[in-house]
Amino acid sequence: MALLAPSILSANFANLAEDVHKVENAGADWLHIDVMDGHFVPNITIGPQIVADIKQETKLFMDVHLMIERPENIIPAFIKAGADLITVHAEVCPHLHRIIYMIKDAGIKAGVALNPGTPVSVVENVLSDLDLILAMSVNPGFGGQSFISSVTGKIASLKAMLDRSGSSAYLQVDGGINADTGQEVVNAGANVLVAGSYIFKAADIGQAVKKLKHISAQNN
Ligand code: DX5
Ligand code: ZN
Repeated sequence: MALLAPSILSANFANLAEDVHKVENAGADWLHIDVMDGHFVPNITIGPQIVADIKQETKLFMDVHLMIERPENIIPAFIKAGADLITVHAEVCPHLHRIIYMIKDAGIKAGVALNPGTPVSVVENVLSDLDLILAMSVNPGFGGQSFISSVTGKIASLKAMLDRSGSSAYLQVDGGINADTGQEVVNAGANVLVAGSYIFKAADIGQAVKKLKHISAQNN
């Protein structure tokens, strides 16, 4: 059974509350919030104020994905805004262990994301400290990109690594998830699916949520 985390990156920001209510009412588990800084990735998106405002609109678990350099500078503001989990990118965190505990010591969950080109070995020595590993299945920066199929094998490696270590961390996949790729990554061991454009660009947002939920309920 996998969890579904719709990414609001592809929502209508002029009607954000309405889109959030639609995914919540259709049975989404988490809300995935993509934060970009124009440095680590080319795009700029959401700051802590928007997270605080969304928090007033929903009971969904707030899954904040930081695609930013120097995340330690703004992590306290996202925690104050109501984040339930914060994920940082291994590629911009030389002091990965320190930042994981900066997040966890504040009483919320901590995750580490890996770009498609980043080896799984970079999380090996912090596995027992993590609540979530995020395998990016696109190069981060934009919604609506195609799933990079070589990431499926990487998910299987991460799943084996987690099982070997006895870790119960979530294994999340983000980028290009639709009904087919969702099935593929759940079969490989993912248990949190992030989906942006498949859900928010659908003619019927509620139906798209239900379809992905159905896939995730059949496996694991
Ligand atoms: C990409 C973001 C993703 C993105 C996924 O940089 O981290 O969360 O919103 O969008 P889709 O599902 O459209 O690939
Ligand atoms: Zn994301």
